[in-house]
Amino acid sequence: MCGIIGIASSKLVASSIIQSLKKLEYRGYDSAGIATIVNGEINEKKCAGRVDSLEKMLFKSPSKGSLGIGHVRWATHGVPSKVNAHPHSSDEVSVVHNGIIENSNELKKDLEKKGYKFKSQTDTEVITFLLTDFLKDFDLVDAINKTLRALNGSFALGILFKKYNDIVVGARRGSPLAVGYGPEENYLGSDSYALKSMTNKITYLDDGDVCILTNNKIEFYNSKNKKINKKILILSNNEINTEKGDYKDFMSKEINEQNITAKTCVKEYVDQLRKDINLYNFPINPKSIEKIVIIGCGTAYHSCITAKYWLEELTNIQIEIDVASEFRYRKIKFNNKNLYVFVSQSGETADTFAALDLCKKNKVKTCSIVNVVESSIARSSDFVLPIHAGQEIGVASTKAFMGQMLVLYILTIKISEIRKEISKSDFEKRINDLKKLPDLIKETLNYCQDTMPIIAKDFINSKGAMFLGRGLSFPIALEGALKLKELSYLHAEGYPAGEMKHGPLALIEEGLPVVIIAPKDRYFEKTISNMQEVIARGGKVILITNENNKIIRENVRFTLEIPKTDEQLSPFLMTIPLQLLAYHVATLKNCDIDKPRNLAKSVTVE
Ligand code: F6R
Repeated sequence: MCGIIGIASSKLVASSIIQSLKKLEYRGYDSAGIATIVNGEINEKKCAGRVDSLEKMLFKSPSKGSLGIGHVRWATHGVPSKVNAHPHSSDEVSVVHNGIIENSNELKKDLEKKGYKFKSQTDTEVITFLLTDFLKDFDLVDAINKTLRALNGSFALGILFKKYNDIVVGARRGSPLAVGYGPEENYLGSDSYALKSMTNKITYLDDGDVCILTNNKIEFYNSKNKKINKKILILSNNEINTEKGDYKDFMSKEINEQNITAKTCVKEYVDQLRKDINLYNFPINPKSIEKIVIIGCGTAYHSCITAKYWLEELTNIQIEIDVASEFRYRKIKFNNKNLYVFVSQSGETADTFAALDLCKKNKVKTCSIVNVVESSIARSSDFVLPIHAGQEIGVASTKAFMGQMLVLYILTIKISEIRKEISKSDFEKRINDLKKLPDLIKETLNYCQDTMPIIAKDFINSKGAMFLGRGLSFPIALEGALKLKELSYLHAEGYPAGEMKHGPLALIEEGLPVVIIAPKDRYFEKTISNMQEVIARGGKVILITNENNKIIRENVRFTLEIPKTDEQLSPFLMTIPLQLLAYHVATLKNCDIDKPRNLAKSVTVE
C-alpha cells in the first residue's frame, strides 16, 4: 500500500510525478504529496484526498525543480489528513515511505529528547529526523546506512536531500521498489506500472538494497554497503489494456471482459490441437507430490478454496489451504515432497510474500499464480504460472479471480493427467470444455446485465445479506459476500449452506436478502432444502442456478438461470452474477466503485 515515485531529471518533474501518482492511486488514495528541490531548498506540497486535488494545488502554485518525489497514501499510523500526508520533510531531507516502521515509538522518544518536533502522527517522520540527525556527523552513505539499520519493520523509501541536491535515493526492505532507466532521467517507483509510460527498462531492488539516482546515472549498494550491478529487464508494452474505453469505471470493464480473460488464459495454457496442457518444468515431479498447500489472501484465497475442491476431486493428493496471514505464523511441518502454491493478483501482498519466504527458508518447492509477472512473489518462486488477465485496476478483484481459478483448474487437470488419476478421454473432454468456457462466460454476462440492476434495489435498504452455497459454490458464496461488503459497505456473510442451522440461521429475518448458489450438482437437493429453511424464516431469496425447475422457484423472489456446465466448471459462471450484484448495489448507493473506502489494491503491509 502507498505508492512512491521519484524522478531525477534535467527537466521539470512535477507533472510527470503527478501522472505517475495517478497510476499508483490503486495502492492508496487518502492523501497525496510531492516534494522537489527548488533553488537548493526542499519544496513540499501535500493535501488530504486524491491526486486530482494535489494536481489542482499545483495548477494554482506550480512546483518547480528537476528532482522530485511523490506519494499516495493508505493510512497506517495517523488519520488521513494533510499533516499526515507524505512527503515528511525537515530542512535537510524529505521522505516518502511505503510500509510500517515497527519501532517508531521508541525512535520518536529518542529523537524528541534530542529536540526534534514531530508534526504528524505517522511512523515515517522518524526516518526524516533520523536522517537529518545522522547527516550532522556522517556523509551521505553512512547516514543512510545508520538510519536504515535503526529501523525495524518494512519499508520502501524515496528520499531527497537539500545538501546533495542532484540525487534521489531509494531503499527497500520488505516493500517493493522498482528503478527505471530513462533518456536523460531516471526513476523510482513502487511498481513498474507507474513507470511504464516513461520507460520500459526496469530493475527491481532486492531487500536491503539502496540506489542513488542522478539524471544520467544509477548506483546500487547492497545491505553490506557494497556497490553492486543489477540486471536490467525490458518490460513488454501492454498499456493498451489499461484504458477505460466506453465503460463508466474499470470494474465494469473488468467484469465484462472476463470472457476475454478466460480466452487468453485458456489459449496460453491449452493446446487444442494436441489436446494437451502446456505445463512443463514442474519444480517437483507431480507423480511424487505428497501434499499441495495453497495460500492466498482475500479473493485470491477464495480461489484457493475452489482449487481444494478440484484437486481433492481429481487427484489423490492431500490438499491444505490457508490464508497467508495465518500460514506465516503457524508451526508448519515442511516437507520437500510437498508443493507450496501461492496465489496473488499483484504478486506483492506482504502476507503472501512472507508465507512464500518462510517456505523458501525451509527449502521446499514453491509455485506462484500471479497476474503481475515482474512482481516480488513471481520473482521469488521456483515456478510461475501467470494468469494473463492484463492489468486489473479496480480495487475489487474480478477478472483476476476468474484467471486465478482458471489456472488452478488447469493445473489440477494437468497434475491429474500426469498422475493418471483421470483417463485420457476425461482429460480431453475437460480440455474441450475449457474451449467453450469463454462463450459461456459471455452468455452469462449478457443474461445478467438487465436483471442485476433490478435485483440490486432489494439490497440498498437492507441491514445486510447472506450468500450460501455448498461444495464448489461455498467459496463462490464467500467471494459474493466479500464483493458486496467491499463495494457497497453492506454487512454480508458467506456460509456453507449446511452450516446455517449451527448458528447463522438466527440472522434470518423478514426481508433479509439471501443469495443461494445452487448449480445442478451433487449438492443441489440439499442446498434447495437449506433454501427452504431460509424462506420459512422470512428470508428474501435470490436463487442462482442452472436448473430449469418451476417447483423450486416457488416463494423465491428472483431466480437467475445461467448456462449449464460441467459440475466442476460452475464457479466460473456462478461468480459473475455476484460480481454484478455487488457492482449495482454499490452504484445505487453512490459508492466509489474503483476505489472503495479504506482499501487499496496492493496490500504491501502486514
Ligand atoms: C478483494 C481483493 C482482495 C485481494 C487480496 C489479495 O476484491 O481484491 O481481497 O484479493 O488483497 O491480493 P493479491 O491477490 O494481490 O495478493
